[in-house]
This record gives sequence, structure tokens and C-alpha cells, in this order.
Amino acid sequence: MDFLSFREVAPSQIREIIDLGFKLKEERKKRIFTPYLENRTLAMIFEKSSTRTRVSFEVGIKELGGYGIFLSSRDIQLGRGEPLRDTARVLSRMVDMVMIRTYGHDRLEEFARYSSIPVINGLTDLCHPVQLLADLMTMIEYKKFNWDDPKTTKVAYVGDGNNMAHSWAVLAGKLGFELRIATPPEYQIDPQIREIAEKFARESGAKLLFTEDPEEAVRGANVVTTDTWISMGQEEEKEERVAKFKKYQVNHRLLKLAEEGAILLHCLPAYRGYEVTEELFEEFAKVIFDEAENRLHAQKGLMVWIGNQSWK
Ligand code: CP
Ligand code: NVA
Repeated sequence: MDFLSFREVAPSQIREIIDLGFKLKEERKKRIFTPYLENRTLAMIFEKSSTRTRVSFEVGIKELGGYGIFLSSRDIQLGRGEPLRDTARVLSRMVDMVMIRTYGHDRLEEFARYSSIPVINGLTDLCHPVQLLADLMTMIEYKKFNWDDPKTTKVAYVGDGNNMAHSWAVLAGKLGFELRIATPPEYQIDPQIREIAEKFARESGAKLLFTEDPEEAVRGANVVTTDTWISMGQEEEKEERVAKFKKYQVNHRLLKLAEEGAILLHCLPAYRGYEVTEELFEEFAKVIFDEAENRLHAQKGLMVWIGNQSWK
């Protein structure tokens, strides 16, 4: 059982993962660490930088009684050109689970194809589903999402039509909540992802809106979210992007249009003065760092869930 994107996961399975995340969060508060993954080893391959993903997976597997191995592509033979498929086959003989953060989603898929052990997406250029598990947990904690009434959730995503926007679109389509995505015309989400999200939305009844107007997206929303304008690998486009995204900054003026009591989410790292203002970020620091912490709980839930599916 892999976890590559929300496309392959049923809403009931997403709920099982989140429920497990909450259970483990409660146990951890009491310092109860049940070894659900005793002696299981997780290899974590990073072809891009990371703070949250690395720490949450490494601490998570340790707290579950297992062991995490951090593999930077700078240090392993993969970075010197050893084929992915060989790396996948070697790791399959030595560890129990792999998390990989890479560029093209096709690299993740190739890795998963050649692995005989579960593979988890730790972010690709296409999507970042483990982040959205934490975001969903946070929305539930702040009473912005209810499994029995998903239509009361109205999320506004303002900024780049990137991996985060893609994961929001597919998750909204799957779970049936309302999502408005505002991007500059040149930075809309991938049309194929939009098609997939719209197909799921037809089944779940989710409302999806794609607009160039941030105000249209935020008006009446109860969750507002954004992400960097310059994702990893796009550093050279910085100047051009900053110019084109200027009117997509999430600030007090924009947030005023949201519903009273709306929350601001940010997957982090946050670039103040660009996608979000310093003042607004600090105003919502509590929820944003709760969201960051939930990476740990949600991914522990995910690893236990995958373990239950894979090692009966
Ligand atoms: N949000 C997130 O994935 O953070 P890192 O890049 O620090 O892992
Ligand atoms: N869109 C960002 C997310 C970082 C967690 C990136 O891919 O760099």
C-alpha cells in the first residue's frame, strides 16, 4: 500500500488515517508511546530541502517504536546517477517503508513501481498530500471541517497553482468541501489535475471555483491559505514571479472579506512580505504552528495505517 496522492485514496481511508492521527496525538499528550511499528525501519530520501517533513517523519517513526534513516541525495549513490529503480530495489531488501521527496511526480511513481515495500510521497512538484493530512486535522480541531457536513467548509487558496494547490483541489473533490483557488492567469493549476478534481467533485458534490480574483476566492471563506510564490526548484524565476504575484498577497485587507472567525493556514516555510504579511502571519501563528505540529501526528497515523494494510 503506497501513499502517493489523494487520487488513489478513498474518503473513508483518509478518515481512518486522520482518526489514527488524533488517537496518537492524545496518547502522546499522556506520554504513551505504543510501539505500533516496533522494529520497522523507514528510509527517508530527500532530493530537496526539508525541516518539517524530515523531523516529523524521523520523530514519528521513533515514537512508534521503529527507526528512521535520513538519506540525502547529496550523500547516497542516487545523487551520483545510480538509477532510481535500483535504489528502490535495494531499499526494498533492507527497510520496511520509504518516504521520498523529489522533483517530478514520475520519479516517485517509478520508485514506487520498483519497490516491494510501501512508499510515501514526501512532496513532489505535483503534490504534497502529507501536508494536507495535517491541514485537515487542523481544520477539524478549529471546527472548520466536519465529516458529517463537509459543505460548510469553504477554503480559499490564494497564490501559485502549485503542488499545494493541486493537493487542495483533489482533497476538496474527494471530501466534498468548497474550494476557491485564485491564481494569476499564467500560474493556474495543471489542467489535468483540475479535470481529476472536477471529476471527484461531481461525485462528492464539492464546489470548486478557479478564478484570477483573490477577493472572489476569499469572500465568505472560513479557511484561507496560501503558499510560497517560489517553490523549490524555481529560484531562478523569483523576480518574474514576485512581479506577477503582487496582488495575490494575503493581508488584512483581503482577509477582511473572509467569514468572521476564519483561520489562516500556511504549510511553511512562509515568506513575509510576499505571499503573506508579517502582521497577519503573527496574528495566526498559533493555528499555523498547530498545523506544523500536526504533521507529526498525521504522519504517525499514516504510517500506522499503512502498516496495518501492508503487514497483517
Ligand atoms: N511544509 C513542509 O513540507 O515543510 P518542509 O519543506 O520543511 O518539510
Ligand atoms: N510549494 C512549496 C511547498 C514547500 C513545503 C515547494 O514545493 O517548495
